[in-house]
Amino acid sequence: MRLYNVAVVGATGLVGRKMIQILEERNFPVGNIKFFASERSIGKEVEFGGIIHPVEQLTERSFAGIEIALFSAGATVSKEMAPHAVKAGTLVIDNSSAFRMDPNVPLVVPEVNRKMIFHHKGIIANPNCSTIQMVVALKPLHDRWTVKRVIVSTYQSVTGAGQRGLTQLEHELANRPVEKKFAHQIAMNIVPHVDVFHPDGYTKEEHKMVNETKKIMGDDAIKVNATCVRVPVYGGHSESINVELEKKFEMHEVREALANAEGIVVQDDPTTSLYPMPVAAWDRDEVFVGRIRRDETIASGLTLWVVSDNLRKGAATNAVQIAEEWIKGR
Ligand SMILES: NC(=O)c1ccc[n+]([C@@H]2O[C@H](COP(=O)([O-])OP(=O)(O)OC[C@H]3O[C@@H](n4cnc5c(N)ncnc54)[C@H](OP(=O)(O)O)[C@@H]3O)[C@@H](O)[C@H]2O)c1
Repeated sequence: MRLYNVAVVGATGLVGRKMIQILEERNFPVGNIKFFASERSIGKEVEFGGIIHPVEQLTERSFAGIEIALFSAGATVSKEMAPHAVKAGTLVIDNSSAFRMDPNVPLVVPEVNRKMIFHHKGIIANPNCSTIQMVVALKPLHDRWTVKRVIVSTYQSVTGAGQRGLTQLEHELANRPVEKKFAHQIAMNIVPHVDVFHPDGYTKEEHKMVNETKKIMGDDAIKVNATCVRVPVYGGHSESINVELEKKFEMHEVREALANAEGIVVQDDPTTSLYPMPVAAWDRDEVFVGRIRRDETIASGLTLWVVSDNLRKGAATNAVQIAEEWIKGR
């Protein structure tokens, strides 16, 4: 089997560490592997394949001989360093928001638009975590009944904000002082504010859900209205999604379409209190869909509850899947 030289950029972060775990779990065909982070991480080590590797400081020259680089070190690092990687002939799969809306960069969720992987010019972008799980759920509905409009409210876990978000919740719960990642206390609270505000009153996270959905689904006509909310949950994002479809549907057809769709597990049995929850989605790769019901207030409406592990399908798993698909298609 052909092996690939891989770099993990942001290897000490929540997503980077999950990527390392997933590369091992899925037996990714790794030849040499290198782990990069900031200057702060010099001296740290990572165990991979039973071997201890040093964490190296990322520089412009880090990419020599690297074939695939999985970036998760934030948009500033991606903007600065990804072009150097591309110049070195490395395929960059980027988890940050740096290139997602760049028309030259495919934005990929394999279950939805895997063919776009092969249109890259050196960089493939991984969508925002909240968008990924939503488009996986929308795809089978769009294919058959055409999604016209989506109203989504998110319940996003603190790990979605990286290590500092997790530390804030842990420290607040233990009554220890902590430098705040969120604008307010997150323990015992709900904060309707994810990422920065735009002048129109929406947040950047809400804009990402609108714009990225259209790009991934390849349909600018899909209208999305999002409210993104941070909740005191360690891992797993939940979403209440209301969908208006173009065509008429039967409920059993919708359930069937969702149950048969790639990457989805339907958990929907009110008689046994079965529905998706973050604790049950933790460390799983699937997108869980439940509370499936007709919205009687419009002609063809549907309401869903969708949960997925933001560090796995929302970030690391999706990135590794992209790399696997790219290898398969070469
Ligand atoms: N968390 C999620 O659920 C999620 C989902 C989708 C996408 N993402 C995206 O993934 C990226 C990372 O998120 P995260 O949650 O893993 O954050 P995190 O836990 O804060 O980790 C950030 C990582 O970036 C590294 N880094 C920071 N500045 C650097 C620099 N100048 N040079 C090299 N490395 C640097 C950090 O290294 P040090 O340890 O040395 O500081 C660390 O490894 C972000 O762009 C985020 O938007 C996150």
